[in-house]
Amino acid sequence: MAEIRRATAADADAIGQQRLRMFVDAEVKFAVPMETMVANFVEWLRPKLEDGSYVGWLAEQDGRLVAGAGLWVMEWPPHFMHAEPRRAYLLNFYVAPEMRRQGLARTLLALAVEEAKARGITVVTLHASKFGKPVYEQYGFKMSNEMMLRNPS
Ligand SMILES: CC(C)(COP(=O)(O)OP(=O)(O)OC[C@H]1O[C@@H](n2cnc3c(N)ncnc32)[C@H](O)[C@@H]1OP(=O)(O)O)[C@@H](O)C(=O)NCCC(=O)NCCS
Repeated sequence: MAEIRRATAADADAIGQQRLRMFVDAEVKFAVPMETMVANFVEWLRPKLEDGSYVGWLAEQDGRLVAGAGLWVMEWPPHFMHAEPRRAYLLNFYVAPEMRRQGLARTLLALAVEEAKARGITVVTLHASKFGKPVYEQYGFKMSNEMMLRNPS
């Protein structure tokens, strides 16, 4: 049975590798070189793990990382939905193929939402892959009205 623990700054590289596997398994099309994304992500992540604005959970079984998830506390302007100047963004949900459909993502999601609640955060957002969508929908997440413009000219 996998054991879940909180990540520390020493896990930054491992989380970067999980993030890469997440995108590959989610079958996304990379617009940037994968190695650049990982290197830049780990550099972004390390200070946030240290100051607590990123909280990571890692699941281990037989000394091997088999799943993970993260919560990033984003500064966000007070809004008609919430008066506090922040939101939680959930990211890096990844479960190794042989461990899927055993409830690990559901457990990690519950931990992340609990963390947001404990911090007084009332709006939690994420971007779902086609594989993650059913997990979040089952929990109660709904589609929002986000729009995006890429590479403006
Ligand atoms: C998405 C992912 C994290 C789900 O992890 P998981 O541990 O297998 O998910 P869970 O076992 O907690 O699933 C919870 C529920 O979500 C739904 N669900 C999960 N995976 C599903 C799938 N592939 N198809 C349909 N429903 C699915 C099911 O209802 C499931 O409950 P059930 O097994 O009792 O029916 C995992 O498949 C994964 O890492 N995929 C590749 C990377 C990725 O897309 N990550 C998500 C980024 S947003």
